[in-house]
Amino acid sequence: MAPHALLIPLPAQGHVNPMMQLAWKLVSNEFFVTFLNSDSNHNRILTANTPNSFFDNIRMISVPVEIAPIDTLKGIENGIEALAKDMGPSVIDRVIQEINAREEENKVTCIIADVWMCFGLQPVATLHKLPLAAFHTSPVSLFAMRYFSAHLVSLGILHSDGIPKENKKTKYLPSMPALHSGDLPWLWAGEYMFRKGIRMGEEIKPIKWVLFNSFLEIEAPVVETLSKEVGVYPIGPLIPPEFLHSRTTTKVLPSFWKNDTGCLQWLHKQCADSVIYISFGSLAVLSEKQLEELALGVEATRRPFLWVVRSDLMKGSQAVLPAGFLDRVRDRGCIVSWAPQLEVLSHPSIACFVTHCGWNSVQESITMGVPMLCWPYFADQFLNRTYVVDVWKLGLPLNANSQGMIEQEEFVKGVEILLESEQGLEIREGARKLKIIARDAVKDGGSSSNNFNLFVTAMKRQLN
Ligand code: UDX
Repeated sequence: MAPHALLIPLPAQGHVNPMMQLAWKLVSNEFFVTFLNSDSNHNRILTANTPNSFFDNIRMISVPVEIAPIDTLKGIENGIEALAKDMGPSVIDRVIQEINAREEENKVTCIIADVWMCFGLQPVATLHKLPLAAFHTSPVSLFAMRYFSAHLVSLGILHSDGIPKENKKTKYLPSMPALHSGDLPWLWAGEYMFRKGIRMGEEIKPIKWVLFNSFLEIEAPVVETLSKEVGVYPIGPLIPPEFLHSRTTTKVLPSFWKNDTGCLQWLHKQCADSVIYISFGSLAVLSEKQLEELALGVEATRRPFLWVVRSDLMKGSQAVLPAGFLDRVRDRGCIVSWAPQLEVLSHPSIACFVTHCGWNSVQESITMGVPMLCWPYFADQFLNRTYVVDVWKLGLPLNANSQGMIEQEEFVKGVEILLESEQGLEIREGARKLKIIARDAVKDGGSSSNNFNLFVTAMKRQLN
């Protein structure tokens, strides 16, 4: 019997993407994969321009999930609770029963669930005699912060609601860099998420396999610390092999938005290392004033740019660019609503990436050797910026003014330092070096490749 993994992502683009990459990797190791999604995301993926061949040996299934808009803190809380109910343990139990009753020869043999979907799942796995692995789509350091946060409360470093007692840059964990107090990854979402993070640590601790979309070489100290408590297996960066071995690929990755591939033709016409790529992932939103300020900054650089302006990028309404902007930059700018980001980052014309520091974007940028200008927005993005800027030295921060606004002058200054100065040259060279290290991690004999093989072998062995 072939191994059959049931994959359970948190149904959001930033989590579905890496879980899809994992599905692909499993399939190329003779697994059959059932990929469970929420109805709404399932339909979005299938209606996007994803080729059918992507789904060879990956079966997509879905269940209805009632999630109201998650644009408030209460909304996020409700969303997590809705998932716990509509895609939670009893639903998973039913899904497994249905698959196994229908397919005697292709029963589920293991479960891999996003860490956010693991709550209460172990008893279901035990009931069906299946190994359960957790998948963390963000850095090991994020999980470590959550895991040790109760300890930080007991030491008196954090209040019981997760707010730091002192408002200064602090080394919260010896194996991690110092963080600004405002950079703690739960602060944006309030006490509920702080407590949920602590519970996540408790829930994950007994799980033998915790897979991370990261690689040892960029987080070695924190991997070593956390490994004393939890089964940490970094298997990233989870980038399709086509992008690692060649610069041109026809592979189109599944996406919730329709990719505007026309921007690739535009990139072909640009000089090497000349284009500023700007994208804030799938969730970040800017105020109207900030969007205007950014547009003016982009214009003032006088450089070619590719900018992803999602229709919902602007807070509250359809994104609006300043009057006359498009005319003024027509000869050197390309604006799309969703870019094929991996193809873009691997294009030789890209000089730098203005990013919100979502973990997938950071991993992709590292793997393609592109230096970053960091503009974090929420969740782990401030933590990721600290690593990009302070630890790996692959980018520069864009600093907000006292009203929280990144001004056009700051934007221009960041671009100029990164692309023209001695400091920028060092950063760009660092990016080229880490690109090789990242790719080595997933090659035969590399750290992530070894971890993945250990996991695959264990999942296959328990079939006998
Ligand atoms: C979120 C959080 O931001 C992130 O910090 C967390 O770790 C995961 O969930 P998101 O904001 O969407 O994700 O950012 P990111 O993690 O960067 O993921 C975005 C994905 O969409 C990337 O894989 C990127 O390649 C893709 N993308 C983005 C496109 O394909 N085209 C685009 O135009 C923009």
